Amino acid sequence: MWLEVWLAALSTLCAGLGVRGEHTDYSRRVSLQYNPGTSDKSVNLLHVRAVDNVSTIHYVWSTIGAPTALLIYTSSPTSELNINWTKLTSREPYGAITIQPSSSVLYSTALMFTRIFEYSDVNNTANFSGTAEKSFYPTYNLSDFKWENANATLNTSSLTANLTGRHKSESFQNGSVIFRVSAFGSSGRDLASPRLLHTANSSKLEFLMSEVKPRGNNSRFALEMFTLEKKEGCKKMVSVRSIDDEYTPTIFEVAQLIANMPNDSHAQGYFQWKSVAYGAVGGKRADSLPCQYYDLRLTNESLQFPSIVHAFFGKDLIERYNVEAFNVSFGIADGDFYDKHNFLSWSALIGYGTPPKDTFSTLVICIMAVALGTPLLLLIVGAVVVFSLRNRVYSSYEPIN
Ligand SMILES: *[C@@H]1O[C@H](CO)[C@@H](O)[C@H](O)[C@H]1NC(C)=O
Ligand SMILES: *[C@@H]1O[C@H](CO)[C@@H](O)[C@H](O)[C@H]1NC(C)=O
Ligand SMILES: *[C@@H]1O[C@H](CO)[C@@H](O)[C@H](O)[C@H]1NC(C)=O
Ligand SMILES: *[C@@H]1O[C@H](CO)[C@@H](O)[C@H](O)[C@H]1NC(C)=O
Ligand SMILES: *[C@@H]1O[C@H](CO)[C@@H](O)[C@H](O)[C@H]1NC(C)=O
Ligand SMILES: *[C@@H]1O[C@H](CO)[C@@H](O)[C@H](O)[C@H]1NC(C)=O
Ligand SMILES: *[C@@H]1O[C@H](CO)[C@@H](O)[C@H](O)[C@H]1NC(C)=O
Ligand SMILES: *[C@@H]1O[C@H](CO)[C@@H](O)[C@H](O)[C@H]1NC(C)=O
Ligand SMILES: *[C@@H]1O[C@H](CO)[C@@H](O)[C@H](O)[C@H]1NC(C)=O
Ligand SMILES: *[C@@H]1O[C@H](CO)[C@@H](O)[C@H](O)[C@H]1NC(C)=O
Ligand SMILES: *[C@@H]1O[C@H](CO)[C@@H](O)[C@H](O)[C@H]1NC(C)=O
Ligand SMILES: *[C@@H]1O[C@H](CO)[C@@H](O)[C@H](O)[C@H]1NC(C)=O
Repeated sequence: MWLEVWLAALSTLCAGLGVRGEHTDYSRRVSLQYNPGTSDKSVNLLHVRAVDNVSTIHYVWSTIGAPTALLIYTSSPTSELNINWTKLTSREPYGAITIQPSSSVLYSTALMFTRIFEYSDVNNTANFSGTAEKSFYPTYNLSDFKWENANATLNTSSLTANLTGRHKSESFQNGSVIFRVSAFGSSGRDLASPRLLHTANSSKLEFLMSEVKPRGNNSRFALEMFTLEKKEGCKKMVSVRSIDDEYTPTIFEVAQLIANMPNDSHAQGYFQWKSVAYGAVGGKRADSLPCQYYDLRLTNESLQFPSIVHAFFGKDLIERYNVEAFNVSFGIADGDFYDKHNFLSWSALIGYGTPPKDTFSTLVICIMAVALGTPLLLLIVGAVVVFSLRNRVYSSYEPIN
């Protein structure tokens, strides 16, 4: 009881002192557009344009083929995204998406969401990589999904849109997967779990599966993604650990997929997430589903076709880029299965530059300060008291000597 009162008092005090490290003033002017330059509603393409004084970050999201995001960083505040729609929707989409001027493009990468795996985890071990082939249900290939018109979900003031898709199988009769895209004009922290930090250089993806009927009572899911990087480099997975879990209790890990380009001093793109998904709407602690990622594998299998990756990176991309795949699985040994709520949500950040990093929160700094400071203070006070007492005692004896 006392501890709680003490902590509450402390956090109020610290907040009052304005000890805050997570907000900076850096901002971009951000806009979100649906299918720029066409009235075609049969395909979805979202364009996020984030501009500062000297640069533009273009994010392009599309459900042509498998859901895909492009991140293009340009060194010009006026660079434009050009789309040749005839070409994009043709069987030869190569070069349909370009940036003008093309010389302003300093960095580009892509992230493609290719497949959803479902497996029966009868022993509740949540070991996706150790799961026998026979325990897998037929894979959902995301390029086979039907996608709703995203225009109706576009909110240009909150900078969000939903890409909602369904597979033709019976499991998706009442359910769907949603790739919810958000863009940001400034830094901040999400209100929703897992309370991700973002900056004006990032945008967010939420992957949601809701009311999809699992094909067994012990179903768990995993998501497969592809990414690419210029031939001189590749991506690498980095795990950042923190002892501060104030915003996501018991989750201490942030995973980052970053470019590994030994000879390039430019900033690059990143994909970042906390190692947690949620098994119910609302993201309460009791519904958290720790998630795991698996090693990147370099692949030279051709990317699922068509996609905006081909439209932007061209026909011979496999000769110029390293393509890598990786999986993220949702769930922990002895944890709940998907069928508890028939729901799954996972969030990640896509951005350029330095990935946001949790600094110690104000509360934790104060607690540490008090925890370490109090004994020290007592020690000092003690020493001073003892010292002065000894002096006084000594001095009172002095006349006698
Ligand atoms: C998207 O919706 C807006 C208004 O709701 C409409 O003006 C616009 O034409 C739509 N765009 C397409 C490509 O359908
Ligand atoms: C961007 O330009 C505006 C107006 O010219 C200026 O006030 C602002 O300080 C500039 N921002 C940066 C980060 O340079
Ligand atoms: C768009 O692509 C088509 C087919 O490749 C081509 O014929 C046309 O000239 C292109 N349009 C523009 C404006 O480049
Ligand atoms: C589950 O555990 C049992 C007993 O430990 C074992 O025989 C069985 O092979 C396991 N099943 C799977 C799918 O791993
Ligand atoms: C998962 O299964 C793989 C292959 O069977 C095994 O090598 C690995 O140790 C297992 N991991 C855990 C955490 O049990
Ligand atoms: C997924 O479907 C696409 C289009 O039908 C196909 O090109 C691709 O090979 C499929 N991928 C897998 C892994 O089955
Ligand atoms: C988009 O999806 C989210 C998550 O399911 C939902 O809460 C929201 O209402 C949807 N937005 C629109 C406009 O449909
Ligand atoms: C767009 O988002 C804002 C802020 O979240 C909200 O107030 C507004 O109602 C939303 N607009 C629509 C059309 O949903
Ligand atoms: C979809 O919902 C209807 C009505 O609630 C139900 O009868 C049907 O069984 C559901 N389908 C699946 C695949 O869950
Ligand atoms: C799943 O659980 C239900 C009720 O708990 C049971 O009736 C059904 O047989 C189970 N299905 C499988 C495939 O184990
Ligand atoms: C990186 O630079 C070093 C020295 O400048 C060079 O020897 C090496 O080949 C370069 N590596 C790549 C992948 O370009
Ligand atoms: C955002 O990108 C700009 C480069 O355009 C860079 O100067 C700035 O430091 C970046 N900010 C963050 C928080 O990464």
